[in-house]
Amino acid sequence: MDKFVIRGGNPLVGTIRVGGAKNAALPAMAASILTEEPVILENIPDVRDIQTERSLLVSMGAEVELGYGRASHRTTLCCRNLVNPEAAYELVKTMRASTLVLGPLVARMGRARVSLPGGCAIGARPIDLHIKGLEKLGAQITQEHGYIEASADRLRGGHITFDKITVTGTEDLMMAATLAEGETLMENCAREPEVADLAALLNKMGARIEGAGTSTIRIHGVEKLHGARHRIIPDRIEAGTFVIAGALTGGDLIVANCDPLHLGALLEKLQECGVKVRTNGESVRVIADSQLRAADVSTEEYPGFPTDMQAQYMTLATQAEGTSVVTENIFENRFMHAQELVRMGANIKVEGSRAVVRGKTPLSSAAVQCSDLRASASLVIAALVADGVLSPMAKPFSIASTTLIAAMSVLKKNCVALARRSGASAKCFRVEPPHR
Ligand code: UD1
Repeated sequence: MDKFVIRGGNPLVGTIRVGGAKNAALPAMAASILTEEPVILENIPDVRDIQTERSLLVSMGAEVELGYGRASHRTTLCCRNLVNPEAAYELVKTMRASTLVLGPLVARMGRARVSLPGGCAIGARPIDLHIKGLEKLGAQITQEHGYIEASADRLRGGHITFDKITVTGTEDLMMAATLAEGETLMENCAREPEVADLAALLNKMGARIEGAGTSTIRIHGVEKLHGARHRIIPDRIEAGTFVIAGALTGGDLIVANCDPLHLGALLEKLQECGVKVRTNGESVRVIADSQLRAADVSTEEYPGFPTDMQAQYMTLATQAEGTSVVTENIFENRFMHAQELVRMGANIKVEGSRAVVRGKTPLSSAAVQCSDLRASASLVIAALVADGVLSPMAKPFSIASTTLIAAMSVLKKNCVALARRSGASAKCFRVEPPHR
């Protein structure tokens, strides 16, 4: 079990650069299944899910050379010799996005065997809409021993209307439809920037997709896709997490290398809370020089307030004056962080899909347990404003804290550089390396 020790108490001041979007990188890696030629991806983030997806693709016979971060570092994926179109339970249970290989495998190889993911820390998370959609594209699907087996000589275009908006469902079926015979019309699609980024990659590979990023996507199937090179968009959730960390600590923080247009709902909400926000083409400056005010939040599909920012926002709400009602509409069990925040001194009452947060209450250091990725991030940023010595964080999987802590140590360096230039003492929080 990983453990992180965080010493809070200092405002975050300086500049931090955001990495590539995990949720765009994972489908982009799955898209490499659709061609025999190499796909080159830039700006892949250094997070554990990427390693898991690499293992998954390699287990199928792909060659994957990972290179993280800066433009010169690139990841090359080549799925020329796919031999085993299977996503085993051991991998799918650790990373639900593994199900993204289902559509591409059936489209390219005519068959796929993918484990059903089961429940997870934030709710049931079924994949029935992926399955229904594939059936609409002509795949035969059976379910046995916890696995879905899908097959089709060649998929054919169809008309899919999603009963519910699903991000990876939209991505999975969009990938499948690129190689289907004829035209596919998909309605009630997810409009997340990651869907549009995937379509941009697929179009570079020779696909013919129109409308990605809107709720109606039209795909003209083609015989074959070819290799391409693509730069993954910046991670809007990582950017938003840093923005909240800056606001929460009363800092003056520039979150660079992000796309502020992807952060619209969050930035509007922060302004309502009294945070000063300045944006330019690729950065957000957040200045929190006055008391935060409470504001209600309700999660929605993009462009609404993201469920992936709900936990971090709840931490902010604990430090805002007044009552904030946080409503979670996307996942049924996504308040695991609330009780941990209560243990640190927050006043939060969870009533079904609503959490009522009464602020401002001082937070004090405590040992807390992390559940999912974003909940972990919310506790890390809570630790930044907690008084006392320690907030040791023990968690079943380490993705979030590893990412965040790694990025925050960059921030620490930036702060030191800034202090030297200005002659001021810009001390940052201290993060000790993880103990095993
Ligand atoms: C993606 C993101 C995740 C984010 C979520 C919602 C990735 C890799 N992950 O997850 O970070 O929190 O979007 O923005 O991109 N549903 C069904 N049947 C299905 C599929 C989904 O009922 O077949 C339901 C889910 O249970 C949930 C809702 O639809 O209540 C939205 O889920 P979905 O958009 O599919 O989430 P993911 O794509 O798994």
